[in-house]
Amino acid sequence: AKRSSIADRLLDWYDAHGRDLPWRAKRGEAPDPYRVWLSEVMLQQTTVAAVAPRFREWTERWPSVDALAAAPDEAIMAAWAGLGYYARARNLVKAARAVAAAGGFPRTEAGLLELPGLGAYTAAAVAAIAFGERAVVVDANVERVVARLFAIQTPLPAARPAIRAATDRITPDTRAGDFAQAMMDLGATLCTVRKPRCLLCPLRESCTAYAEGDPARLPVKAAK
Ligand code: ADE
Repeated sequence: AKRSSIADRLLDWYDAHGRDLPWRAKRGEAPDPYRVWLSEVMLQQTTVAAVAPRFREWTERWPSVDALAAAPDEAIMAAWAGLGYYARARNLVKAARAVAAAGGFPRTEAGLLELPGLGAYTAAAVAAIAFGERAVVVDANVERVVARLFAIQTPLPAARPAIRAATDRITPDTRAGDFAQAMMDLGATLCTVRKPRCLLCPLRESCTAYAEGDPARLPVKAAK
């Protein structure tokens, strides 16, 4: 029998063990681009645990991008308190108004990149998670998982192009958003920086760093 792909095994694991986070669509429901975008902006410098309650409050107050676009700047800036750089909140306001004026979010990675404050990571994440585009989504968790899977020895940041190319090769044509979030969850819960829980990992059989015996050594960081 053909062994299933890395993506298939990871997606099966995600269906059973993925985290239940407030911005994720319930199974069978379409994701809301506003909630996906907002969560990714909030998560840029703030942990999942800190973002979750703030995200809930925010989306109760402003349930849609149109509601947010209509809110006064001062109310939005005040609501952002404690979530990190205020430049992000300013860009959030600008992007919400651009999206409301356009009648909705751009539906492609390239279109999303044009919005204020959306960098390469956020555009790829929203394109994949909200719109199902086969975008290559690489954050620090994904970097660690991929560096270990393929035992990439080059130190960060020089390893980034190789990590991106490897992530591209294992990204599936369907469920790219679930795949990206599954990689993040794997990195956050099992493939952790210290003491990875390899015995529970759905990708153990494919993991070169595991086979070589010391996955926690990777990724190597360049000396400062
Ligand atoms: N970190 C950034 N985006 C995330 C997401 N969608 N799910 C979990 N962790 C994340």
